[in-house]
Amino acid sequence: MSAAVYAMASDTLRDRLRPLCEADLEQVLMWRNAPEVRAVMYTSREITPAEHAAWFARLQRDPTKRTLIFDADGEPMGVVNFTRIDAASGEAHWGFYVRPGAPKGSGTRLGRLALAEAFGPLSLNRLIGEVLASNEASLRFHRKLGSEREHILRAHHRDGDTVQDVHEFSLTRASWLRARAADERAHAFSGDAS
Ligand SMILES: CC(C)(COP(=O)(O)OP(=O)(O)OC[C@H]1O[C@@H](n2cnc3c(N)ncnc32)[C@H](O)[C@@H]1OP(=O)(O)O)[C@@H](O)C(=O)NCCC(=O)NCCS
Repeated sequence: MSAAVYAMASDTLRDRLRPLCEADLEQVLMWRNAPEVRAVMYTSREITPAEHAAWFARLQRDPTKRTLIFDADGEPMGVVNFTRIDAASGEAHWGFYVRPGAPKGSGTRLGRLALAEAFGPLSLNRLIGEVLASNEASLRFHRKLGSEREHILRAHHRDGDTVQDVHEFSLTRASWLRARAADERAHAFSGDAS
């Protein structure tokens, strides 16, 4: 895993995750319906405003789901969804996207905070991500963040006439802690820790 992944650089000090609120809904629907985001989701058709509002209402009363907005330097830049949160087993799935046109590096910043949320406040032991085989950026992204591919779910996803494999990745709390400690040591050693 890259030493840059978990390092706390000065330009990321104002990054944060916060709960999705009603005022975010219009913007989030625009991002979610952008062609480049829809194309890599299980549900690739356009979501209507009514469906979006109903999803938000369900979210408020579902303890197995949490949706967070990623603010980068105070500006909304992406979305993180934790789903199938199982407090007993300490497992959950996650999904995410950055806003169309987000600066390079935004995904890594979002991912780093999402992992800290998963293994900190959410107290998970294992975080699972499912990625369409055609989504090269996300396959690489998961590996960059230290996730390991555990299974290939063959022909798991059908969208119209297209059938494709889904790659299931997971990251454990223990590996995340190890990687974070190694990055902190590397940065302390290189003098970047001040
Ligand atoms: C996946 C996603 C969040 C990455 O965000 P990003 O801002 O591009 O991420 P970064 O610039 O921090 O890049 C992180 C890593 O992702 C991978 N990556 C990002 N864009 C890539 C691309 N176009 N091609 C291949 N790999 C890419 C690389 O491994 C990259 O690390 P590197 O620059 O050190 O090689 C973003 O592309 C996105 O929102 N995609 C649409 C939604 C999506 O795919 N969600 C996940 C569904 S499983």
